[in-house]
Amino acid sequence: MARKTTISLIKCDIGSLAGHHIVPKPLMNICEKNLKRAKENGLINSYYVFNVGDDLQLLMVHEKGESNHEIHQLAWDTFQEAAKKAMELKLYGAGQDLLKNAFSGTVRGLGPGVAEMEIEERASDPIVIFAADKTSAGSFNLPLFRIFADPMNTAGLVIDPNMAGGFKFEVIDAQESQSVVVKCPEEMYELVALIGTVERYVVSRVWRARDDLICASSSVSRLSLIAGKYVGKDDPVMMVRAQHGLPAVGEILVPFMHSYLVAGWMRGSHWGPLMPVGLKDARCTLFDGPPRVVALGFQVANGSIASDDEGEPLIADLFADPAFSMARQEALKYASMLRRMGEFEPARLSVEAMEYTTLPQVLEKLKKRFKPV
Ligand code: F6R
Ligand code: MG
Ligand code: MG
Repeated sequence: MARKTTISLIKCDIGSLAGHHIVPKPLMNICEKNLKRAKENGLINSYYVFNVGDDLQLLMVHEKGESNHEIHQLAWDTFQEAAKKAMELKLYGAGQDLLKNAFSGTVRGLGPGVAEMEIEERASDPIVIFAADKTSAGSFNLPLFRIFADPMNTAGLVIDPNMAGGFKFEVIDAQESQSVVVKCPEEMYELVALIGTVERYVVSRVWRARDDLICASSSVSRLSLIAGKYVGKDDPVMMVRAQHGLPAVGEILVPFMHSYLVAGWMRGSHWGPLMPVGLKDARCTLFDGPPRVVALGFQVANGSIASDDEGEPLIADLFADPAFSMARQEALKYASMLRRMGEFEPARLSVEAMEYTTLPQVLEKLKKRFKPV
């Protein structure tokens, strides 16, 4: 039996520096300290702490399986401790995504975002994780479709016989809290019909059809649906398994050669261009954006992240590459075009999406003044 290893990426906005810009060092240090201790105690085997804009990201590799109580408790306690520090420092939005007080076995539904995948380790298992700021879960629908269903993106769908059977997509309907599995290539048109509606339908998992090998997992939480009002965006995370009968790392990254529009940006209320960046540029500025995404690559090795002699995980910062400069330039071009439209649709989100923002409060005072025409 192949060894089973779990990759957990759990994120939370618990306060940031100079508005919703970046997670400052003292908060990262708390995470480092707690995850280091959890590693020493044998709860996790490997970890990597990073941030994308105002979102704190805990990558943990362990053997406890998905939705494990102890792993989720570790993340929850760490976010609580960091939120306390954020309050002391009077950071902006301290504790923002911690929507509930009591922990009940999993962080799902409490505010933090989660992508998890338990895998049977292959001879070599490359993984790419993605984390984005100032956007929402459906933003990964387009690249996931390209990676696993579009033969014009993924040469392997055409050339590699191991992928010939296609892939299965689990799609969550965030409004009705239900899910459906759709198989490509046979049901490709139906899949696009669903997941093109990015604000409602979200791809949550992908499997290789011929053997049900798990290939991708993404976060699906809608904070606004948990809280019933706008509480920040559900800046999403996802993980994708690569190579040897699965899309190559390069096929996983090529959908990001061009920028595309995602929901989020300023006040979670605008369409904005997604900008692929390296970790050092994972900070939102211009109109609180443009929305950014980072991609980190690593190898899973014997229950851990392959590490150097000091035990430091070996992490590849995949978008820190001039190959993505064109997408960054496009993102700025689209940003300037959209901002010229100000608060007029389609620069601003549709009225349905604005329901969850503070806009209805603003319109409330006009209500009584409307007269029949
Ligand atoms: C978007 C985001 C920011 C804030 C904006 C206003 O996800 O977090 O764009 O919505 O900076 O924030 P407040 O209302 O806290 O001043
Ligand atoms: Mg924030
Ligand atoms: Mg954020």
